Amino acid sequence: MPFWNHLECFTEFLIVLAGCYSHINMSNSDHGKPLIISHNGASGVYPDCTDLSYQQAVTDGADYIDCPVQVTKDGILICMSSINLMEVTTVTTSPFSSLSSVIPEIHDGPGIFTFNLTWEEIHKNLKPAASNPEIQYSIYRNPLYKNGGNFMRLGDFLAFGKDKDLTGILISIENAAFLAEKLGYSVTDGVMRALQDSGYSNQTGQEVMILSKNSSVLIKFRQQTKYELVYMVDESISDMVNSSIMDIKQFAHMIAISKQSVYPVSQQFITGQTKLVQKLQSAGFAVYVYLFRNEFVSQPWDFLSDPTVEINMYVQGAGVDGIITEYPGTAAAYRRNTCSKLGDQAPSYMSPVPVGGLLQIMDPQALPPTLAPMPSLHAADVVEPPLPAVSPKPSSFGAGEESGLPPSQPSYGRHLVALIFLSSVMLCGSLPV
Ligand SMILES: *[C@@H]1O[C@H](CO)[C@@H](O)[C@H](O)[C@H]1NC(C)=O
Ligand SMILES: *[C@@H]1O[C@H](CO)[C@@H](O)[C@H](O)[C@H]1NC(C)=O
Ligand SMILES: *[C@@H]1O[C@H](CO)[C@@H](O)[C@H](O)[C@H]1NC(C)=O
Ligand SMILES: *[C@@H]1O[C@H](CO)[C@@H](O)[C@H](O)[C@H]1NC(C)=O
Ligand SMILES: *[C@@H]1O[C@H](CO)[C@@H](O)[C@H](O)[C@H]1NC(C)=O
Repeated sequence: MPFWNHLECFTEFLIVLAGCYSHINMSNSDHGKPLIISHNGASGVYPDCTDLSYQQAVTDGADYIDCPVQVTKDGILICMSSINLMEVTTVTTSPFSSLSSVIPEIHDGPGIFTFNLTWEEIHKNLKPAASNPEIQYSIYRNPLYKNGGNFMRLGDFLAFGKDKDLTGILISIENAAFLAEKLGYSVTDGVMRALQDSGYSNQTGQEVMILSKNSSVLIKFRQQTKYELVYMVDESISDMVNSSIMDIKQFAHMIAISKQSVYPVSQQFITGQTKLVQKLQSAGFAVYVYLFRNEFVSQPWDFLSDPTVEINMYVQGAGVDGIITEYPGTAAAYRRNTCSKLGDQAPSYMSPVPVGGLLQIMDPQALPPTLAPMPSLHAADVVEPPLPAVSPKPSSFGAGEESGLPPSQPSYGRHLVALIFLSSVMLCGSLPV
């Protein structure tokens, strides 16, 4: 190719680029599609759920910051990405390193759980430990800050979020049944109370989203509050039967599905596209997709190992409403760039890549194995028994007055015991002797 052809090409490229840049709106408050929800704050940059990662998420332009709540031994709700402190803190090198136990209901293998230590013990003795999801490729996140930042209680998180430029906050709740039954703690009541105490329940400035994989948690919030409710489907699925969608309609406004449930992948090659996003949207749901990361090994080959190409594919190719990401900055930069919204005029590098395109040009010998069919979600997968009543379990947790909960976090279990005790006293007192 003669030199001037290259030149022509290059000039064309510059013109396209200039066209794009003139459309770029640098304002951070351009909250269009996709909605950007953090995952453990900007956990790609700083350790999960720390003041640093939340501040980074706000600075980077997330619409929602998220707090996965866990409970401590003294009944304080904290933001912690795992119920097992061994995964996300320095507990194994702390004075509490011997406190491990096995609780198969909530975790595979041994753990030192948030409810085994008090808040004081956690924040005085432990440091956060950065998550490194791609450690098998020796990819470490921000090593300088691998133990940086401070842990936050739910109350701290709510106070932090309140005056920030956010659409709202998201609280995710898991293990509610276990906590009620085995530890006598109602995490749903605890979250509702914290939202009330911090003024989120009666303010209109910011939205509150509650996310759970367990419908019984959302049903409880549906009955008692007006918060936005997100149902997370925690397995990769190819479809949802109509009755399951109707069921979810009863208690959720949004649905979060995995990336694979939109573009199934075999050995990092995209094999197709499901109709789930469209189907859920026509049933009236906003559809959020998890989990987006920047590490180049986390994207299928079809996306050229580029996190922006991946985001563009989900937004333009699949039309998702929101993305849940550990790097909100990447998503916000994508959203600010109006190249992606120019429709037909969009430069070719902003078109979605052809679905399954790589498979078609591959040597048949080199094709990845056919994907085992992913299941459909059925109503039976959605429906759960209601949350168990909070048992007055005489465990080490919240039982005796000494280890009990502070007054602002009353244990309903204990109240129930007191009530039964009181009524029997009254009954006995009124009985003729
Ligand atoms: C950028 O977005 C803001 C907020 O949406 C809007 O007020 C402003 O006019 C936009 N600027 C340009 C150049 O489009
Ligand atoms: C952690 O807490 C659970 C629930 O109270 C308890 O069963 C377990 O024994 C505790 N682990 C240790 C090592 O104390
Ligand atoms: C909101 O609730 C808080 C805590 O319950 C209360 O102090 C505050 O006065 C309420 N604000 C409004 C506007 O109702
Ligand atoms: C499921 O619902 C969609 C949209 O309402 C409808 O088109 C489709 O036929 C239904 N499928 C079944 C199996 O009932
Ligand atoms: C969901 O919560 C119910 C109690 O409401 C419990 O029985 C069930 O095991 C939970 N499901 C999962 C998958 O945790």
